[in-house]
Amino acid sequence: MTAQAVELEDGTVRVGSIFFDPAQILGKGCEGTFVFKGRFDNRDVAVKRVLNADISVADREVELLRESDEHPNVIRYFCMEQDRQFRYIALEFCQATLQDYVDGRYVNPKLDAITMLRQATLGLLHLHTLEIVHRDIKPHNVLISMPGRRGDVRAMISDFGLCKKLKVGRMSFSRRSGVAGTEGWIAPEMMEGDRSNTCAVDVFSLGCVYHFVLSRGHHPFGDSFHRQGNIQSGRFDLSRLGEREVTARSLVERMVQRDPSRRPPTQAVLRHPLFWGRERALAFLQDVSDRVDKEDGDAALVESLERGRAEVVRGNWHEWLDEKVQEDLRKHRTYNGRQVRDLLRALRNKKHHYNELPEDIKAMYGRIPDQVRQVSPSPFTRVFYILRTLSLSFSSLWITGYPDSPAWWYTAGTQCTPSSQSQPSRSTLIRTSTSSRCVNFET
Ligand SMILES: Nc1ncnc2c1ncn2[C@@H]1O[C@H](COP(=O)(O)OP(=O)(O)O)[C@@H](O)[C@H]1O
Ligand SMILES: [Mg+2]
Repeated sequence: MTAQAVELEDGTVRVGSIFFDPAQILGKGCEGTFVFKGRFDNRDVAVKRVLNADISVADREVELLRESDEHPNVIRYFCMEQDRQFRYIALEFCQATLQDYVDGRYVNPKLDAITMLRQATLGLLHLHTLEIVHRDIKPHNVLISMPGRRGDVRAMISDFGLCKKLKVGRMSFSRRSGVAGTEGWIAPEMMEGDRSNTCAVDVFSLGCVYHFVLSRGHHPFGDSFHRQGNIQSGRFDLSRLGEREVTARSLVERMVQRDPSRRPPTQAVLRHPLFWGRERALAFLQDVSDRVDKEDGDAALVESLERGRAEVVRGNWHEWLDEKVQEDLRKHRTYNGRQVRDLLRALRNKKHHYNELPEDIKAMYGRIPDQVRQVSPSPFTRVFYILRTLSLSFSSLWITGYPDSPAWWYTAGTQCTPSSQSQPSRSTLIRTSTSSRCVNFET
């Protein structure tokens, strides 16, 4: 059914049940696409106007949105109208993109980058569960919602123009000379004309987005001129992720692997320690400490733990602590400042006996573990960074009975697959059994 675009007296354009203001452009896409601020059913919406020449794109975009938008981290679709020239798609109105956030055009002190990335990943996982590959994941296509009642905002996956539903081979198509996506964010296998793109192409682009956000605007494959070339040759540089982002570094490194089968599945990405809360991280480290602390402890385990020592203890971990904290530690026993094991031991003991500490020392450690960030610069914060680093040295450990240990977050061969192969069951994606093949991602 074709409607007619009518210009109203105040300059608003009405097409069927959609209204928009042609002067309020929210964004421009490719191939003549414009996004305007508008109204539908008495609410603010974004109206994406796509040329009818791109009819298959618009129709498919809407079809996939209808199927998948029931997720808080996927852009919500309301309605589509058309006239002779255009398709008009009414979408949930958003205040910014992740690109705006990184560029500093959108500022929200309450917004936590890791939370945004986690939400975007949840949205993507939802698509992947429906066997939809997005194929154009980049900061422009992750939108930030309007604030909810409590002022909270959500990150959402948007722009389904290039999405492809696995299994429906006929739907496969491409927009720009055979290659879908945006240069600089495209997985290498897509550039090489591999048509059997799997969800791994999105994991690749998402890894670049993680890096871009956490390093405040740096791409792991360099400046825009050399980017796609570097992607093709697998040359990335993660040094812009500093000491604080060391956990992120270990994840991004896996996500941007040139070989798609070495990238973690989307589900596994969400299981990485980057998304662990502090409480969970602390509990994990404590458990590890219990394991390695026994006199007759597992020698191989201890050896593996100490292998990452240089980066963790940096000579002597005592020296990273405040004098008062060092003193407090000395009061109870001697800890070897060159050992990771003793660092863990100290952490565990402090956690156990936290309530017995004098108030001033408690304040120095910070309230365990949730206030650690606020009590900065506290020596405990420093310990915490050391400990986050430490999770790197656990990466090759296999800790029996601990399904969430980093050794388990990544199991190879569980990436969602193209139509020709059978889809792994959900239980494979969330595998926690001991039979899976583990990839050692120790650096
Ligand atoms: N729902 C929305 N709310 C606010 N701005 C939007 C919305 N959708 C898109 N935009 C803006 O318009 C730009 C282009 O839209 P997009 O759907 O990505 O089009 P294209 O498929 O051509 O890339 C986005 O990068 C964003 O800046
Ligand atoms: Mg876009």
